[in-house]
Amino acid sequence: MGEYLIEPGLDPRKDHVLYRDDEHLVVYLGTQEGGDDVDVNSYLIVSRGRGILIDPGGYKIFSKVLANVSKYIDPRDIEYVYICHQDPDVAGSLPLWREVSNSKIIVHWLWTRFLPHFGFEDADSVTYQLPDEGEAIHFGATILEFIPAHFLHSPGHFTIYDHRSKFLFTGDIGIALLDEPYIVVENMERHIQAMRPVHERLMPTSAAIKLWLGRVRYLDVEAILPQHGAIIPKQHVKRFFDFLENLKVGIDVMR
Ligand SMILES: [Fe+2]
Ligand SMILES: [Fe+2]
Repeated sequence: MGEYLIEPGLDPRKDHVLYRDDEHLVVYLGTQEGGDDVDVNSYLIVSRGRGILIDPGGYKIFSKVLANVSKYIDPRDIEYVYICHQDPDVAGSLPLWREVSNSKIIVHWLWTRFLPHFGFEDADSVTYQLPDEGEAIHFGATILEFIPAHFLHSPGHFTIYDHRSKFLFTGDIGIALLDEPYIVVENMERHIQAMRPVHERLMPTSAAIKLWLGRVRYLDVEAILPQHGAIIPKQHVKRFFDFLENLKVGIDVMR
């Protein structure tokens, strides 16, 4: 029923609508800049006029994310800002988002007590805390399923399955650090070579990966949307899961 607009060759520096139907929109916010710093992917879902910002990124990209978000929704109407985990490349812009909107921060309960270090006086009142086992939240025309991915790489890490677009937002799973940024994977075998070293280094143990795969393999996934690197379209999703299934990481390979 909806329209998918995931094509090779999309400019990673510009915002792109990735999925749309008459009630639901998923946008990549053009957050990759190229250069020496770690690039991030931030996303926006607007569903029946309600907005959720997914992994807003650090302080340095706030003005760009704000400008691009404003093309699709009044930033004051953003209801939730979700952070898949606590890292600065995911959450560094939170204090600024709190200033421009009244959004609640969706995050694993573990990180709530760390948030006052961003300058929030009452972290409890500004967060929506996810339990260990995750949660499915009705949001506009969709259900957002917050699927546990603990220890990948953060204790208290979640992935999101958007039932409407069938996109799986994977946070730091499926990331790649690319010399030449691109936002949609074309050559999967080459992309796997770009994903492998960062997974070996960042992920603590293959056991955690297998646990997560058991939760997501049965899903009908149109695309994998990670927080760094490139979007993995449907035709490569099985290859992606197979790659992870056989991967040795962290303490399994490093001594
Ligand atoms: Fe991270
Ligand atoms: Fe990250």
